[in-house]
Amino acid sequence: MNDEEKIRLENIADTEYEIFPLLKQRYSPRIFKENFLTETHTHQLFEAVRWAPSSNNLQPWRFIYGERGTDAYKEIFDCLSDFNKSWAGNAPLLVLAIYKTNLDNGDKNFHAPYDLGLSLSNMAVQAQYLGIGIHHMAGLDWKQAEKTFNVPNEYHIASALAIGYYGGDIDKLSDDLKVQEEADRKRMPLSSFAFNRSWNG
Ligand SMILES: Cc1cc2nc3c(=O)[nH]c(=O)nc-3n(C[C@H](O)[C@H](O)[C@H](O)COP(=O)(O)O)c2cc1C
Repeated sequence: MNDEEKIRLENIADTEYEIFPLLKQRYSPRIFKENFLTETHTHQLFEAVRWAPSSNNLQPWRFIYGERGTDAYKEIFDCLSDFNKSWAGNAPLLVLAIYKTNLDNGDKNFHAPYDLGLSLSNMAVQAQYLGIGIHHMAGLDWKQAEKTFNVPNEYHIASALAIGYYGGDIDKLSDDLKVQEEADRKRMPLSSFAFNRSWNG
């Protein structure tokens, strides 16, 4: 196993049942390699999004992305919460994840957040396959971001994403964040959310 693979397997989930390795290996890193994503890899992430299922195939997802060094990157970074600012600058790519809130007839599209989530799940699996980590961030001032990027009224910024190749120098993190980065990954047991035949069954 080379160093790169070792890093990617460090935070492997201790699953109760065997699952697809890319799902088991995915985690939300706070450190990344310095290098930018290749253009092809960036496009592959959005290609994976493209093929996600969506209600009525409406594909209500939209994304704005910027590489480190660009105005867009700085503008996304400036909208992050102070906590997220403490680590997200380690990522070479920042993204805003957006969905269209309404249908063409003006009604609210209740399924749009679901569709955006599914599209990001597609992106996550594709990213993992390419050795790329994604860290979602709800901690952002979305009103500021919508204003900065002139997002039309019928769209809503749901989250920001910090994206980069797994790896990087853990010493870039504060002591508290180092502990979080290296902590065991925990989940609720299956029985607490998957009910057989009746609520809590
Ligand atoms: C919608 C969403 C919002 C999140 N917001 C933040 C955030 O603002 N800051 C942060 O550090 N992590 C954030 N996370 C990451 C979660 O804390 C993380 O996914 C969870 O702790 C499980 O860890 P894992 O992804 O490494 O398995 C967010 C995740 C999701 C899906």
